[in-house]
Amino acid sequence: MTAHNALIVDLPPDLTNVNGVAGLGHVLAPGEIDVSHGTILYLEDVTVSFDGFRALNKLTLSIDAGELRCVIGPNGAGKTTMMDVITGKTRPDDGRVFLGQTFDLTRMSEPVIARTGIGRKFQKPTVFENHPVWENLELAMKTEKRWFASLRARLDRQAQARIGETLELIRLQHQATRLAGELSHGQKQRLEIGMLLMQQPALLLLDEPAAGMTDHETMELAELLNKLRGSCSMMVVEHDMEFVAALAGDSGKVTVMAEGSVLAEGALDDVKRDDAVIESYLGR
Ligand SMILES: Nc1ncnc2c1ncn2[C@@H]1O[C@H](COP(=O)(O)OP(=O)(O)OP(=O)(O)O)[C@@H](O)[C@H]1O
Ligand SMILES: [Mg+2]
Repeated sequence: MTAHNALIVDLPPDLTNVNGVAGLGHVLAPGEIDVSHGTILYLEDVTVSFDGFRALNKLTLSIDAGELRCVIGPNGAGKTTMMDVITGKTRPDDGRVFLGQTFDLTRMSEPVIARTGIGRKFQKPTVFENHPVWENLELAMKTEKRWFASLRARLDRQAQARIGETLELIRLQHQATRLAGELSHGQKQRLEIGMLLMQQPALLLLDEPAAGMTDHETMELAELLNKLRGSCSMMVVEHDMEFVAALAGDSGKVTVMAEGSVLAEGALDDVKRDDAVIESYLGR
């Protein structure tokens, strides 16, 4: 029960037994995320200063459970800093950051936040280059299953099935035995997303996942993320507007950040017509 105990140690007892996320089959059953109000992530008036410079300035933002939210905005707007705050890498000077109704992320450590169900994809792919593709998925899963040792045999069969399903989802089923280091950039990015999925995250944060991809790889990634809808909530930071359009569709909400705050929010076509957005970002 190592990982589970670590979670409880970090939280007051009343925060560890809340309603779960429907359909996610999350590993940390007693710590499941309470999305009964429909919100998976909530940031309120979050401020982060670096030597007096406000990278985040009273940032207020919320993501619905099951939503795929795209976040755009100029360089230096604070998008990566926001992800650092959500994952516990950076502590805000001020403000509230909640996962569901009950998990106060400003009071939890980085590893505990990861185990509670937030997966993060950094821009550069980080896979185990010298291991076969399938083993990358197996290694990604192992960290969270230690306390199931007594169910080893059954889990191994389940694990094999999940690895197979994930390989198909990320469309690497024909590369399963190749070394991860031999994959193309786009394939490595999909593999890393597959590794995050092995941990069954409730919320996935992806920071510029399409950077450095060919147009074809970018559209394959959009297809993958669209397929993940319903199985986890996602926040995708991206500059590639075609990719954002493929994810947001006609009605998906897009958040535009600038100077550490939300500048505009709404359907992509609407925010693209917003004068402030054109001035600070699109019209440059
Ligand atoms: N550790 C740090 N120390 C000092 N300043 C920082 C630190 N991290 C970020 N900043 C500054 O905070 C601001 C926001 O940076 P951030 O990386 O969050 O922007 P971003 O929106 O992700 O930009 P990009 O689109 O270029 O990735 C920038 O001005 C950056 O220089
Ligand atoms: Mg960034």
